[in-house]
Amino acid sequence: MSPNSCGNERLALLGGKKAIPNAFAKYNPIGKEELAAAQQVIQSGVLSQFIGAWHEDFYGGPKVREFEKAAANYFGVKHAVTVNSWTSGLVAAVGAIGIEPGDEVITTPWTMSATATAILQWNGIPVFADIDPETYNLDPKSIEKNITPFTRAIMVADIFGQSADMDEIMKLAKRHNLKVISDTAQAPGALYKGRFAGTCADVGGYSLNYHKHIHTGEGGILVTNDDKIAERLQLIRNHAEVVVGDKGVSDISNMVGHNFRLGEIECAIGIEQLKKLGGLVESRQALAATLSEGLQGLRGLTTPVVRSDRTHVYYVYPMQLDVGQIGVTRDRLCDALNAEGVAVSRRYQNIHLLPVYQRKIAFGSKGFPWTSDICRRPVSYAKGICPVAEDLNDNSYMGLGLCIYDLSFEDVQMIAQAFQKVWAQIESLK
Ligand SMILES: Cc1ncc(COP(=O)(O)O)c(C=O)c1O
Repeated sequence: MSPNSCGNERLALLGGKKAIPNAFAKYNPIGKEELAAAQQVIQSGVLSQFIGAWHEDFYGGPKVREFEKAAANYFGVKHAVTVNSWTSGLVAAVGAIGIEPGDEVITTPWTMSATATAILQWNGIPVFADIDPETYNLDPKSIEKNITPFTRAIMVADIFGQSADMDEIMKLAKRHNLKVISDTAQAPGALYKGRFAGTCADVGGYSLNYHKHIHTGEGGILVTNDDKIAERLQLIRNHAEVVVGDKGVSDISNMVGHNFRLGEIECAIGIEQLKKLGGLVESRQALAATLSEGLQGLRGLTTPVVRSDRTHVYYVYPMQLDVGQIGVTRDRLCDALNAEGVAVSRRYQNIHLLPVYQRKIAFGSKGFPWTSDICRRPVSYAKGICPVAEDLNDNSYMGLGLCIYDLSFEDVQMIAQAFQKVWAQIESLK
């Protein structure tokens, strides 16, 4: 099917044939290596070996330790700490850096909700800064504007697969004595100035949930070069309150632990998955390059911008529409693409607009922590505080989740042809 022949056909939205008649295969990086590794653990009968007490097994069983060693090696850090989800990882990270109730943590509205709720879980106050309109990551200038005497940390998200502007953010943090956490859930294997995204902050890490580049069903890995943070992460992961006495830990702030432990089967799978990460990232990058080539020249459509000092691993392939140039609304265009079989989404996230922040109801029904004395100033979550993120969500953003499908080059060419078809007949959508 050439773009031209396709371009002359009636749009599927208007009763024509779909450009992509069949659904794409689901992304599945799990193969025989993972099967064998999981089977071996099942045969051993030891599906977890953690003990929530100061004991040799406080650090987990052999697969947990092997996976953590492999991950620390791979990402080039001193410590890797596995957790049963990246949401748990983020909660552990906020506790480990020593957030006090009422401390403000600056974060992004353009992320998955767990980035910000991890702050709330320790009664920290999320403060939303705006994003860079090209990379969708926190804009250092907006971070700086939001720093107050109560700010203690910055929670960065390396969204869609590209690192935030870490040098600028770390410089800012140093100047204001702030800790930095990288939520690199979506960007394992992405590079920032030759270093892995997630490793430039005080603590960072990756999600291992089922639609990430590599996964263990559910899970996460924290990475840090800081010995004290690593110990606190391990404690929060595994019932800190019981362990600190016998372990001789003197700083017991935030040593209210959880069960955030990842099992032996998941870690055995994770070891195999990690070996595949480089190859999976490369193939995703090659697919994205083919797609960008196929979308060249479509009026009013901007393909992803990748900064020259970093790489993108395309968890999501983000685009922007200039509807003024195109002449039809984003909804109409997305409806037309969806009808052709291209599952573009027309919004991402504006976390600050969720009911938890709009109504300021989080713990209990009386507005805690915002109505309590620990919150030392009124913090606004009103629409308008993040104009770039809001405008992208309301008007111009459009994304394609490359994480969902097992796409071949032919599939990507078909997607590009579907775009070409819609653009060739834009007039019929008016
Ligand atoms: C940016 C971001 N942060 C946090 C999470 C939470 O990760 P998990 O699902 O492993 O808990 C996700 C999951 O998609 C995410 O994309």
